Amino acid sequence: MEEKPKKGIPYVKILFGLAAAVLVVMILTGQKTWFSDEPPVEFLSDMDTQFKVKPQVGSSFFADGKGERDVLPNTFPRGGKRYPLEKPDFEKADSVNGTNQLASSPFVLARGKNRFETMCAPCHGNDGQGNGMVVQRGFQNPPNLRADLTKGKSDGLLYHVISAGQNIMPSYADKLTEVDRWAVLHYVRQMQAEGVKEVKPAPTK
Ligand code: HEC
Repeated sequence: MEEKPKKGIPYVKILFGLAAAVLVVMILTGQKTWFSDEPPVEFLSDMDTQFKVKPQVGSSFFADGKGERDVLPNTFPRGGKRYPLEKPDFEKADSVNGTNQLASSPFVLARGKNRFETMCAPCHGNDGQGNGMVVQRGFQNPPNLRADLTKGKSDGLLYHVISAGQNIMPSYADKLTEVDRWAVLHYVRQMQAEGVKEVKPAPTK
């Protein structure tokens, strides 16, 4: 009797089959295995599409039509500290805030520049001279931070303006930590003394 040829387990075919199956499942479930501008087919959308309010977008949910809510009075970020003065408390600014106790360093200046160009430049401009993007589009222009008038004001007073706001300039106490506000002030002082410089943090070893 002729013996049937022994059939081994077709490992290679099984492996290819499995790989193909995994690939198909991954593509269909929208895993990042494929480069395409089209949105992937989603069987389980998880939380990709949510009912949420995006920054700076209106909302009919609230009576005032604003999506973003104003900070409630007497609240401050977790881990943050409430700034003790109100906008008009200029006379108390020096005694409460004192002078800038944060030691300046290339890192602090780079951090100050980064926060300034994020938070302040829209109005004050990257060069601090008051011609930021929103000003170019009609917002009231702020004073030139590098002019003698502002240059002559004390650390405590400028820190007060950053922390509490001044006239139409809003408060930044809820957006910048205390250390960041002092770092921004170091950067403003540097711009006043030397203009806008490229600041590089010291290389970390
Ligand atoms: C929404 C626009 C806007 C933003 C953002 C803004 N400012 Fe102002 N800032 C103003 C306006 C307008 C004034 C002038 C207020 C006034 O009429 O007294 C001003 C005034 C100031 C003054 C006082 C100058 C002086 O001599 O009286 C300082 C200092 C200052 N801003 C720093 C900053 C810093 C630092 C930031 C970022 C943390 C910042 N501002 C963000 C609009 C802005």
